[in-house]
Amino acid sequence: MKAGEPEEFIVDGRRLDGRKVDELRPLKIEAGVLKRADGSAYVEWGGNKVLAACYGPKEIHPRHEANPKRAVLRTYYSMAPFSVYERKRPGPDRRSMEISKVTRQALESVVFTHLYPMTAIDVFIEILQAQAGTRCAGITAASVALADAGIPMRDLVPACAAGKVGGHIVLDLFDIEDNYGEADLPVAIVPRTGEVCLMQMDGNLTQEEFEQAFELAVKGCMQVYEKQKEALKKAYEKRGEEQ
Ligand code: CDP
Repeated sequence: MKAGEPEEFIVDGRRLDGRKVDELRPLKIEAGVLKRADGSAYVEWGGNKVLAACYGPKEIHPRHEANPKRAVLRTYYSMAPFSVYERKRPGPDRRSMEISKVTRQALESVVFTHLYPMTAIDVFIEILQAQAGTRCAGITAASVALADAGIPMRDLVPACAAGKVGGHIVLDLFDIEDNYGEADLPVAIVPRTGEVCLMQMDGNLTQEEFEQAFELAVKGCMQVYEKQKEALKKAYEKRGEEQ
């Protein structure tokens, strides 16, 4: 047992933060929150607070990065120094580079990049506060920001993790479960096609547990998807009223 590890993760069917095993943390999504960006979104998901901003399609610099066949999608995941318990040193590190890369790959499966050759589409994801599951919150926010910018897309990309704690398969791990649990399985999907555009795994699961966790994560994604659509509808309505 690691120092600080809880003796039990589930007591009387409830997790340490009061949730059921298949329950998401409270999730709030708002689109169009930043005036200077072409598109933006703010996500509060449990203790995670995430801003995403999108620019483009726009002229690409440096020009040698241009692709004559499609737009280049660039993603920048970054954690604020005050987002975690121990001050995070500003600037990119291995983890943020990895998360930027998997985020880009997830979003590339929906953006119609072929419509905008020789351009760039930039997406910035800023983690203001972290409580585990920030890559899922980031992808969720980024796809709303892209849609808010009016960039043609096949669909939105909702993301959600499931995992294993204290021998139970649970949805959407929060930090204690993530730190001391047995496994974490972040998943992102394209709901319209059923495509899986992100799947990573930390820890160990049997094949049966994996299948159970995957199914649960996909159900979580579908709940996130509804909130993403609601957020976009609300932003469009608000803009309509302002005009
Ligand atoms: O955030 P996500 O679960 O996608 O990625 P992770 O690498 O599994 O990190 C899990 C959690 O560890 C983060 O959400 C943060 O709460 C925490 N963390 C931290 O406290 N300090 C860091 N430098 C990086 C992560």
